[in-house]
Amino acid sequence: MPRLSAQANLLKLLLEPYLDSIGYEKEVGTALDAGAGPGVLTSFLMKKNPNLKWMACDISEDMVQYCKLVYPKVDWKVSDVRALDYPDNHFDFIFNSMVLIHIKEPEKALKEFYRVLKPGGKILIHCPNDKSFTGPQVLLDMVAKHATIHPADRFVMEKVPGIMESLGFQLKHRTDFIASNDGNDDKPMVDYPKIHLGMMTGWSMMSFMGHPEGMQDLYSKLQSEYMSNRVKFTIKLETHLYQK
Ligand SMILES: C[S@@+](CC[C@H](N)C(=O)[O-])C[C@H]1O[C@@H](n2cnc3c(N)ncnc32)[C@H](O)[C@@H]1O
Repeated sequence: MPRLSAQANLLKLLLEPYLDSIGYEKEVGTALDAGAGPGVLTSFLMKKNPNLKWMACDISEDMVQYCKLVYPKVDWKVSDVRALDYPDNHFDFIFNSMVLIHIKEPEKALKEFYRVLKPGGKILIHCPNDKSFTGPQVLLDMVAKHATIHPADRFVMEKVPGIMESLGFQLKHRTDFIASNDGNDDKPMVDYPKIHLGMMTGWSMMSFMGHPEGMQDLYSKLQSEYMSNRVKFTIKLETHLYQK
């Protein structure tokens, strides 16, 4: 949860100008944060547009229990995005950030988003594509190995536009945010749509790749290379806005 909260606080810096560029403040009605995690972005979206009434869900009971306490103005529920516990044609706006890369059968989730959105409703899908990593071979090897161990598809964003179109969604807007680790650790620098993180912040964002069984050798190799040679990387965070 601390890593997810830190990540969400960095994402806010890019989402702020992005949401302004798509006229988010004009959205009205009922909104869903699907896979809201620690709720940092739900709360940010709610403050940025008080005309939207927010509901949010996550598959993790712990996350939802925590969020209910910290963000009581949001209507929280434990729900799997592949079988959403909400009625048909219910939402005007859905936010789905950094979730599709974690789930098996992401097409089920996209189908569910179509079902629960009202006609004309919009969905903002925001997720990295691990194929977009640039950096030295030792980093690319770790990313490639992690993708084979991870239970879901780390390249899912390649498939998303095609699935969305087949479901009847229209792509309204696409921006790729680019995060790099060539900035300052005291303060990330935003040069929209780029964000320059410091070396240590960049490393902390990648720590999840060292956890799974079988990753330790590559992770240690990269860690020693990273700390001694100031390894540079970039990654794209795809941001797609669709309308039903
Ligand atoms: C990387 S976090 C992103 C959290 C938040 N959206 C953000 O961007 O800060 C991914 C979240 O998706 C949730 N998640 C994973 N699979 C899910 C599923 N099938 N249905 C609902 N939530 C899911 C996880 O519990 C986790 O909280």
